[in-house]
Amino acid sequence: MYRTLYEKAADVLQNAYAPYSKFKVGAAVLTASGKTYTGVNVENASFSAGLCAERAAISAAVADGEREFDAIAVASSGGKAWPCGSCRQFMYEFSPDMKVITGDDEEHLEVFELSELLPKGFVL
Ligand code: THU
Repeated sequence: MYRTLYEKAADVLQNAYAPYSKFKVGAAVLTASGKTYTGVNVENASFSAGLCAERAAISAAVADGEREFDAIAVASSGGKAWPCGSCRQFMYEFSPDMKVITGDDEEHLEVFELSELLPKGFVL
């Protein structure tokens, strides 16, 4: 399951728009209902307007009515890539216990719970 999700993240990586950093990221999120959504990083000439792959994937899922997530896999052109702090908080909003998967390739995956990567995330 983790491997399949990671492969989807690695597949979509080619569509990343990263002309400035040259660091391409792909993400694939698995919903509790069993659907998968993908996202890539989308950079911008106004650097701070850029979007991370994880937030793109979660947003696509939310737009389709999904709000519970079991896991997210992240692949990048530089090998393993753990989600940034903003993405961790973004995911924590929906599923603090979801699994986060990354690795240099599908044979070397590492898995953590989001709540381990972001202990005591912010909630309202
Ligand atoms: N990036 C992601 O897409 N996800 C992360 O978790 C970390 C960073 C992107 C943002 C930017 O386009 C590029 O990687 C370099 O920071």
